[in-house]
Amino acid sequence: EKDIVSKLPLKGKKVLITAGPTYEAIDPVRFIGNHSSGKMGYALAATAVNLGAEVFLISGPTHLDIQHSHIKLVRITSAEEMYNAVHQVYNQVDMAILSAAVADYKPATVASQKIKKKTAVMQIDLAPTKDILASLGEIKEKQFLVGFALETNNELENAKNKLSSKNLDAIVLNSLNDKGAGFGKPTNKVTFIDKNLTEVAFSLKPKQEVAADIFNEILKRLDD
Ligand code: CTP
Ligand code: CA
Repeated sequence: EKDIVSKLPLKGKKVLITAGPTYEAIDPVRFIGNHSSGKMGYALAATAVNLGAEVFLISGPTHLDIQHSHIKLVRITSAEEMYNAVHQVYNQVDMAILSAAVADYKPATVASQKIKKKTAVMQIDLAPTKDILASLGEIKEKQFLVGFALETNNELENAKNKLSSKNLDAIVLNSLNDKGAGFGKPTNKVTFIDKNLTEVAFSLKPKQEVAADIFNEILKRLDD
């Protein structure tokens, strides 16, 4: 029995995972969000603990829950809250996988009262959020850092650009072109690309199996 436990490949390792969307407040009752369900990130967290890891799961608003003695689930709402929660644990983890669909922009100011409707066209000024993944790439030490890339066109080229510009060890290209893949769906079609630009393409499959494929590729590349 002890032997089986010691063979768990991520035993003693700490893994940070981000999941779900972020919500950026417009006023007390409204926000800018996206259709991310969080399923991919929660599947990654479940796989990581099954491999023996201790997991920090930083999650935006989702309907999902996961309870495990080796998963610390931290729920946040905005991109800024996710940035802070991620940076609080990054220096103690061995690996970080950022699957969250973080908002790229947030309202430049948040109205303190509910905005009243008018008949004219109205505008909301947006300011960029901080890129959490890029910020981790900048301060990376021993961590194996994995990002996701959500693309609809020039997929491989765009994903490889993100891999190098954010100083990642690998990126998971998430193809939205496939009808069965992406937001809210139970399945995904991904290509794993490592920092040597080796591509491993997978077929459309349940997100839980995609999570296993991703860890399989990561494990092959740890300590090189
Ligand atoms: N990401 C992040 N913080 C942000 C934006 C993105 O950590 N503010 C992460 C995502 O979690 C993902 C990766 O960066 O792992 C790529 O996200 P994606 O939206 O595909 O790329 P962007 O760099 O935001 O570029 P664009 O949306 O213009 O394609
Ligand atoms: Ca983006």
